[in-house]
Amino acid sequence: MPARLASVAAALAILAALLVGPALGPARARAMGPLPACRYDDILTTPRGYVDWAITLVDTILRVPKSYVPPDLVAASTAGITGGGKVRAVMIDDLRAMTEDAAAAGNGIGIESAYRSFASQESVFASWVKQFGYKQALTVSARPGHSEHQLGLAIDFRSEPGGSPFTGTWGTTPAGKWMKAHGWEYGFVMSYPKGTLAVTCYAYEPWHFRYVGRDLAALIHASGLTPRQYLWAHFTTTVVPPPPPTKAPPKAPSPSATPLPTASIVPSPSPSLVPTIQPTPTLAPTFAPPPATPAPTPVATAEPNVSQPAAAVAAATGVAMLLGVVGVGAWLARRRGSRGGVVGPG
Ligand code: DAL
Ligand code: ZN
Repeated sequence: MPARLASVAAALAILAALLVGPALGPARARAMGPLPACRYDDILTTPRGYVDWAITLVDTILRVPKSYVPPDLVAASTAGITGGGKVRAVMIDDLRAMTEDAAAAGNGIGIESAYRSFASQESVFASWVKQFGYKQALTVSARPGHSEHQLGLAIDFRSEPGGSPFTGTWGTTPAGKWMKAHGWEYGFVMSYPKGTLAVTCYAYEPWHFRYVGRDLAALIHASGLTPRQYLWAHFTTTVVPPPPPTKAPPKAPSPSATPLPTASIVPSPSPSLVPTIQPTPTLAPTFAPPPATPAPTPVATAEPNVSQPAAAVAAATGVAMLLGVVGVGAWLARRRGSRGGVVGPG
């Protein structure tokens, strides 16, 4: 009988853990409604305190301020991983353990890109805009203020030894497979998994992992949801109004509405900040445009908006469809051939 009671207690404990989740500081919030469809906006995310690092959501709609600089940035090398860059100190122990275990398993990992300031992300995004146009850049790179790299919690991993992971096939390499299988055990979840463009709003990035801590990573992994879906459902308290109705065909933002004026475009960003990347063709055609909905209620933000790329998602959808129809393989091959060492977003 005691054994049976123990089994019941254990089952209840697991159920409670799944339902309640770990102690993460701020209480879990009831979802503010269904996950917003992919679109582009500039709404300040909440929560966004530096102590709320694990549950802060940034995406194509939600952002942190330009002034958001994590207070505990340290050299990633502190964790014994190669490649440089900075990360938040909160991840160092887990990053060290993961790096050691990956190497021990014969699947060594290094860092291609870690923390990126608002200005750095500006350069990364501008590089893409300059090379491939605004619409296409949106599918593979976050606008400044919207990147998990600015949180100091995202890392683009690479194989160690090895070169850039932004080849379109890193997910099939030993290190890529190891990270997909084990990253969550150390608190790192893949932000933009294959086949999830419709909910993450970005193309597949097998190298990009977001640190949320082991407890929350385990919950996200068990849920089968992407980090965006999970954080929105359980922690995000931002009120996101519906997008304005789109009666006319979407247009690319005018120069004045573009977040990056021409003068700010960086021709040759640092490779560590702007690694090469190939948008994933398998995801592109699945990109769903945001549905037309009633007029929104304007949301006041604490600072001027970074940008107002109104029709960006629909425009990106057009690009994605084009890639699918024309033949992404040929497109990628041409790009790879023409770009040489040119860099991408990560
Ligand atoms: N490549 C991801 C979306 C970023 O720029 O943060
Ligand atoms: Zn990244």
